[in-house]
Amino acid sequence: MTDLGAELFDRVAADYDRSVPFFATFGARLVEWTAPDPGARVLDLGAGRGAVTAALVRAGCSAVAGDVSSAMLDGLREALPGVDARLLDAHRLDLPDASFDVVLSGFLVHILDAGTAFAEIGRVLRPGGVFAFSVPGPSADGGWWEAYGRVVAEFTRRIRDPEEPHEPVTWAERAERAGLRHVDQTTTEVSFPVDGPEAHWSWLMSHGNRWLHDALDPPDREAFRDRVLRGLREDHPTGGTTVIAGAEFHRVEKPGHPTRAL
Ligand SMILES: C[S@@+](CC[C@H](N)C(=O)[O-])C[C@H]1O[C@@H](n2cnc3c(N)ncnc32)[C@H](O)[C@@H]1O
Repeated sequence: MTDLGAELFDRVAADYDRSVPFFATFGARLVEWTAPDPGARVLDLGAGRGAVTAALVRAGCSAVAGDVSSAMLDGLREALPGVDARLLDAHRLDLPDASFDVVLSGFLVHILDAGTAFAEIGRVLRPGGVFAFSVPGPSADGGWWEAYGRVVAEFTRRIRDPEEPHEPVTWAERAERAGLRHVDQTTTEVSFPVDGPEAHWSWLMSHGNRWLHDALDPPDREAFRDRVLRGLREDHPTGGTTVIAGAEFHRVEKPGHPTRAL
């Protein structure tokens, strides 16, 4: 798993979720789907610029926003000045045991060592508490994201050997291995018009997808950009004029007393 840590997100923070409200929309839907009680103590892990935290605040929850990127947290503090925003690493949470009713995490766990992070999340949740998270999911994009993935794999081979193939592990299995119980999942999708393929490319480079571009040598960067732009023009169902993407939401529970404050 690629470790997309603080440095990358410090670099993209200024542009993150500015051109289309992509993460804000999924964040609001994740909170709505989880439906925490107004009084719940909630940790938003990998909070970024506050896509999930903002919806938690609107729902009247007491939110702690944690992230490894200080630039992302600066954006969050600017938008949500009253929120308790802290530098936190999901692999080593500097938080007491059983201190949250709910942990939420938008588009983070797929870029982590999920086993370590899930164990930490289980530790800070109270018994009966809930962990809900989003990861990239399917969408009606005519196979474009899959084609983009093949371009990414091809250019990744220019900087490192391909990863060894491994048995696919479901999110439910990952949760169970950390002593959590997987109880529900759903999928949801968004689409946003953009000014054309160039604007679509800029959107792609405004979040975690930027990692490969920055890791390539300059000539390969240009070639990568050209290939993605060609794919947007020729293979995207809208010719690259609409961002179409999906997410999976998962809900897991920490065994223990019946769920409350949810
Ligand atoms: C794709 S962004 C999602 C941000 C926000 N949840 C949203 O939905 O817009 C991933 C975020 O996770 C943060 N992150 C990456 N590695 C992390 C880690 N080990 N612990 C905590 N946060 C991390 C990044 O800095 C970034 O803000």
